[in-house]
Amino acid sequence: SKGAAMVTAVAQRLASQRHQVDEALSSLQLTQEHLGWVKSRMRAGLEAGLKSHGPSPVKMLPAYVYRTPDGTEHGKYLALDLGGTNFRVLLVKIRSGLRRSVRLYNKIYAIPLEIMQGTGEELFDHIVQCISDFLDYMGMKNTRLPLGFTFSFPCYQKAIDTGTLVSWTKGFKATGCQGNDVVDMLRDAIKRRNEFDLDIVAIVNDTVGTMMSCAYEDPQCEIGLIAGTGSNVCYMEELRNVEKVQGGEAEDGGREERSRENLRMCINTEWGGLGEDGCLDDIITPYDSAVDRESLNQGKQRFEKMTSGLYLGEIVRQVLLDLTRRGLLFRGHVTEALKTPGIFHTKYLSQIERKVYDRLALLQVRSILQQLGLDSTSNDSIIVKEVCGAVSRRAAQMCGAGMAAVVDKIRENRGLDHLDITVGVDGTLYKLHPHFSMVLQHTVRALAPMCQVTFTLSEEGSGKGAALITAVARGDQAR
Ligand code: GLC
Repeated sequence: SKGAAMVTAVAQRLASQRHQVDEALSSLQLTQEHLGWVKSRMRAGLEAGLKSHGPSPVKMLPAYVYRTPDGTEHGKYLALDLGGTNFRVLLVKIRSGLRRSVRLYNKIYAIPLEIMQGTGEELFDHIVQCISDFLDYMGMKNTRLPLGFTFSFPCYQKAIDTGTLVSWTKGFKATGCQGNDVVDMLRDAIKRRNEFDLDIVAIVNDTVGTMMSCAYEDPQCEIGLIAGTGSNVCYMEELRNVEKVQGGEAEDGGREERSRENLRMCINTEWGGLGEDGCLDDIITPYDSAVDRESLNQGKQRFEKMTSGLYLGEIVRQVLLDLTRRGLLFRGHVTEALKTPGIFHTKYLSQIERKVYDRLALLQVRSILQQLGLDSTSNDSIIVKEVCGAVSRRAAQMCGAGMAAVVDKIRENRGLDHLDITVGVDGTLYKLHPHFSMVLQHTVRALAPMCQVTFTLSEEGSGKGAALITAVARGDQAR
């Protein structure tokens, strides 16, 4: 009959739609074998970056932090935190001994887009204006505090208190900064304002701050991981493997006396750069390529663009665009919202994935999509949820594969059959996403079975960690 034919036609259309959606999603699915490759490519990237000659996708930047805190640190410090979700100024009070404690006071400041992407002078003037406001607020304009500057971008350092910005990453693109010393730029801006003085002691990557703040509680913590707006790792490497620092040690306050054996130095891997030489091309999808093309730093940070918060929503948007253009989603209507870069904030990803499959949850997913100006059927919301799941799962697995490479490297460095180690972690993706941390940990366990890896959330990595590094740096100078 006619009715039966129509039912069959609808069923066939649905089956073919399902098939095409599955095909699109499968490009984002990584097998254990793929993950093994990611691990070994990350390992090769780490090794290449440690060698002194020439630039390499995984930059492996020496951080001039030789040890984690031992509890004797104390004093009052100012910390700045630039490069994550918020810009913050903090006052950190550290006590040692029996009354060992860390107290923090902080204020969050917005950095408007036009300043992130304006001139370097404007950016640093803005930073100094925020510091000025904070010092007024705390009533501390007249104390010359030691400052630790958490600056979460790749910096080439020759000592703890200097750092040349190699390149902007994530959403920053202020002019006149790349190739310049960040500390000089901050000092110049402080001079221009001519209102207060600070003693800039340390420039710190957020991964290093995170590692240090966790190590303050747990001495087994020798790795710092950020899974947030960006993606990056630092870890304690054997100094003998750090060719870049060989011979350069005298620049760091007379350390040439020390034997290189048994000494370690924290290395900021900048692992987000993996793939800049094409080594991830066999897993990069057309969606990733589209995200890269629309980014501020095309061709750069390919691993980061598959694994971090700033980009996951964009990958999702690219998949949804493709499915919609092919008539598989949103009744084929490509809306303005769907064409708007950045509309799919990672926050929505987390919200959509938090909902379990029931009718009510799907209604909630639909209402989130509605807020984004996307009119969906319940079938659409199932597909959107699957896309979000595939994208975030791949991100967590890739981070896990990268981490497996790092822990195995540390284990081999130390000639061990078994390594117990703690990773200090921070970042909105890790903290807020409902599955990311589980998938990450599961992947590390599967790919690095000889390591027992504990993940600990850092408390205030960028503030507390920067202050601890400042304290350690000053303490080491005094010794
Ligand atoms: C980017 C930066 C890196 C930072 C990471 C996390 O990858 O290049 O320095 O650690 O984001 O914020």
